[in-house]
Amino acid sequence: MSLNKNLVEKLIDITSKAAIACYPHLGKKNKTVADKAATDVMRLNLNKLSIKGEVVIGEGELDEAPMLYIGEKLGNNKGPMIDIAVDPVEGTNFVAKNLPGAISVLTISEKGNLFKAPETYMNKIAYGQNIPKEVIDLDYSVEKNIQNLSDFKNKKIKDISVCLLDRERHKDTIKTLKRMGVKIKLITDGDVTGALLVSDKKYDIDIFLGIGGGPEGVIVASALDAMNCNFQGRFLFKTDKDILRAKKMGIKDLNKKYDIKEITKGDSIFCATGITSGDIINGVEKKDNYFYTETLVTHNNQKLVNKIQKKYIIE
Ligand code: FBP
Repeated sequence: MSLNKNLVEKLIDITSKAAIACYPHLGKKNKTVADKAATDVMRLNLNKLSIKGEVVIGEGELDEAPMLYIGEKLGNNKGPMIDIAVDPVEGTNFVAKNLPGAISVLTISEKGNLFKAPETYMNKIAYGQNIPKEVIDLDYSVEKNIQNLSDFKNKKIKDISVCLLDRERHKDTIKTLKRMGVKIKLITDGDVTGALLVSDKKYDIDIFLGIGGGPEGVIVASALDAMNCNFQGRFLFKTDKDILRAKKMGIKDLNKKYDIKEITKGDSIFCATGITSGDIINGVEKKDNYFYTETLVTHNNQKLVNKIQKKYIIE
């Protein structure tokens, strides 16, 4: 089964409007207000779709943001049953500080095809096209993954580029990468974009790795799947509350390593609109009486990977 391709245009419109909703909040040092503005617009417009939608990945306790909560029903309850994963503002700090790289993002699939996950951390690894599965694995050491990649790509280790979040928890990984002499791209936030950087040679990232948000992991897996890239993730359930929530959602093996096809099955549509310009997507631009947006969209079954520009009159 495939998702109706008419949904693509509608979803681009939704992330575009959510991104525009953030525009007045750029650099206002208030990430909660910006997140709420984008969330409200996303909810309003998702509710106009002819779908029986349910949020499987939403905003949550991880950052105490105003939520489109897991289990929330969306759409006019008339069309197909759809799973929805949303991150109305991915990079709330970027919006609050008016820094590059904030996006408004969502992904959908047919019911049951998108991993339903609580808001917890995930250990992730992402890499590009045409790399056999045995080359990289979340369970290999960092050294082994880098060495294997260097051998497979016939690239010197000093020319291998690794992207990861700049976090204290990655101290040892960063130390290892430094010792090996690889090129490190340390991002302060926004690991959806970080992982997407493996999708095209022009971004010069061979591998993305490290611990970030679980919801972001599920969302980016859809896009990476459509781009024939690869992804693995393992949720990290630390507190009793996390463990309880995971069990309630039906996760039995809390240490399981998930392959991309276990996170996102079948068809999916992914849309990410730039709020502020980043490495991949341009941010919202205001010129004369219009807002201009750019959206990266993928539709798996249609083999669609595209960037779409849209123009909205300012009312
Ligand atoms: P928000 O936009 O929700 O603030 O998330 C930004 C982000 O950098 C994600 O891209 C990443 O997955 C997560 O935060 C990492 O969490 P933490 O900042 O707690 O390390």
